[in-house]
Amino acid sequence: MFKFKACDLPQMLTLWSSRYTVLVPDGSMGHIQMQEWKAQDSFMTPDRYINLGMSPKAFVFNEREPLFHWEGHEKTRVTSDPGLRLPGKDSLLFGIRPCDTHGLAYLDRFFLGEYRDLNYQLRREHLLVVAVNCLQAGPSCFCSSMHTGPFADISSSCGELGSPQTGFDLLLTPDFASQQTPEHAEDNNWYWIEPGTERGKRLLAFVAPLLHRDLEQVGQKRKQILQEKALQTFARTLVKESLPQVLTAHYENPIWDSISETCIGCTGCTRVCPTCTCFTTEEENETPDSGTRIRVWDSCQSVSFTRNAEWHNPRSKKAAVRYRIYDKLKYIEERFGMPGCTGCGRCSDACPAGIDMVALANRLTEATPEAVRMAPAAPNPVHYERKERLFDPQPYTPLVAEIIDIHEEARDIRRFTVRYRDRPEQGSPALRGQFFMLTVFGVGEVAISVPFSDRVRDAFTFYIKKVGKVTTAIHKLKVGDTLGIRGPFGVPLPYETLKGRNLLVVGSGVGLAPVRASLIRAIENKEAFGRIVIMASATSYNGLLLKEDLKTWSDMPGVEVYYSLSRPTEEVNAHIGYVNDLFPNLGMDWSRTSAIICASARRIKAVARDLMQLGMKPSDIYTSLETNMHCGIGKCGHCKVGSHYMCVDGPVFTYEEMLQLPPEF
Ligand SMILES: Cc1cc2nc3c(=O)[nH]c(=O)nc-3n(C[C@H](O)[C@H](O)[C@H](O)COP(=O)(O)OP(=O)(O)OC[C@H]3O[C@@H](n4cnc5c(N)ncnc54)[C@H](O)[C@@H]3O)c2cc1C
Ligand code: SF4
Ligand code: SF4
Ligand code: FES
Repeated sequence: MFKFKACDLPQMLTLWSSRYTVLVPDGSMGHIQMQEWKAQDSFMTPDRYINLGMSPKAFVFNEREPLFHWEGHEKTRVTSDPGLRLPGKDSLLFGIRPCDTHGLAYLDRFFLGEYRDLNYQLRREHLLVVAVNCLQAGPSCFCSSMHTGPFADISSSCGELGSPQTGFDLLLTPDFASQQTPEHAEDNNWYWIEPGTERGKRLLAFVAPLLHRDLEQVGQKRKQILQEKALQTFARTLVKESLPQVLTAHYENPIWDSISETCIGCTGCTRVCPTCTCFTTEEENETPDSGTRIRVWDSCQSVSFTRNAEWHNPRSKKAAVRYRIYDKLKYIEERFGMPGCTGCGRCSDACPAGIDMVALANRLTEATPEAVRMAPAAPNPVHYERKERLFDPQPYTPLVAEIIDIHEEARDIRRFTVRYRDRPEQGSPALRGQFFMLTVFGVGEVAISVPFSDRVRDAFTFYIKKVGKVTTAIHKLKVGDTLGIRGPFGVPLPYETLKGRNLLVVGSGVGLAPVRASLIRAIENKEAFGRIVIMASATSYNGLLLKEDLKTWSDMPGVEVYYSLSRPTEEVNAHIGYVNDLFPNLGMDWSRTSAIICASARRIKAVARDLMQLGMKPSDIYTSLETNMHCGIGKCGHCKVGSHYMCVDGPVFTYEEMLQLPPEF
């Protein structure tokens, strides 16, 4: 550790500014913003402000930024990465508080783990952070309760990811005469200074003439004394450790009704939050033949955040208000092993409705019996940890594919066959139950399931139902036109674990598409299975998917096909009514049966309930859960249910897992 005289701080900033764009806090109390340091400027020294008005999130995760660019008309399109225009000099943020460095460390974990977000990585690599410990808490601060500051050991909470891990490159601790005990008092003010990264060590070397080595090693002792004093200044506290149990116990508490009535959905809380990362995408069309997909900050508090086609929204306003609190205080930590709330207090300050996280948490904690609070937290129900880090040079840029065939499959449902125009041979195989993100250039992107066999590598078929903006635009495309394709994404449906058992597949409407690939594989290897029973349901025979496949399969020995329609037809012998009505007469050995159900969430629940009544275990029932998706790689946040991202942890779940997820489908 080193120290330097507080009066040398301006000179230090000037030295750094010869190499970096140095940004320092400025403004008036309560309205502190970052301004570029100019040698003669006055600025807010760290003893004169509590925290920045806005978190430093925008420096690494821009409010609006391009994801990829496209050019050409419908037959000739090409795509390219946006080539982020970063400033010539790296930026150095001076004066960031420890809670915000925790926020940055979390953003590193979030954006650089699993699928790496290239936009974030580029901005982060060009940003250095000099943090300054706080000696005095502000009226809204509760970081001491979240163990995120001041003086918190942030590096230890960051997991296994590579540099940068700490959220800061240098950490300063002010040690001013007013805080010193008589025996340590000196006639001037000092800062202790220590590196958090290799880049921090290089920053130190840059200002070496101003540094004094801590030869007597008093720095750590002083820090301890200063920390104890700082912790005594917190007026707001909560008990973090029991929050998972408390929140689990109060999921249905009427408090969520009363709070959600006051929330006006302004999204202020998520905008100011250093750990809120959700975004949506927009198309900016520069000319009819060129455009850019932009990502824009979005909020789980906005009305259509989880909306599905035809305005079905599985998350009510009450559920959305509750979700934000649970995400910050429970779900993020369950998923990423780091606190999702830094205790900065900005959301309560920003909220016009006075919704206050600390007051709420304390009220619920007080209402929770001690035995519940002290019980071990429930284990996470769904396994999601990935061994490998998934790296894609630019995961948001689609490859261009040409439509080579279009087939009218059912009313409002077309089968499109597409072929990559310039994908390298070794593209990863797409597996049953996975999905692709399909782009209509200039219009938008939608998630579409893999219905084709695992062996197909380049000419893919998709069954697409016309329901809204993008799918209508897809239906207008012709053979020879181009689409964008990203993927495959998501966890596939199982295969090996199904072998040796009966297989029951229930597909409703366009839900027959995701199960087609599983059926092809199972039927090709019929001898490895018991009975293979397919139940296809739709409102009418015209609306039924896979009519040709179903006819072919029904002629095969060992494969049984049943139809269930709402309206009678002369085409096939169909049950008129719910598919569930057929189960009791199947005469299956249910204990030796695995089931795959692809339908709306409401139908999945009804079918699974009846199958369990017949004796099936929920762990033998597989489902595919479709939620609003904008990225497919666990970043945009739209598909998140509880601590799980449906796009990377699903969309395939067992019904047992589904039952343990919050009921937001
Ligand atoms: C994993 C997965 C696999 C899917 N597979 C298929 C398939 O094989 N065939 C098919 O026809 N459809 C499939 N869907 C549904 C399809 O993605 C939606 O119908 C489509 O997003 C609607 O977009 P739109 O712009 O036409 O409709 P709009 O109503 O204009 O939608 C606007 C936005 O809402 C969201 N949205 C709307 N509907 C849904 C929905 N049902 N699910 C999720 N988000 C939605 C999208 O983000 C969309 O951008 C799948 C969805 C998911 C999540
Ligand atoms: S949830 Fe509120 S207090 Fe917690 S980090 Fe976000 S803005 Fe700060
Ligand atoms: S700031 Fe308050 S009123 Fe606005 S969306 Fe958030 S909780 Fe609702
Ligand atoms: S997080 Fe974006 S689709 Fe899942």
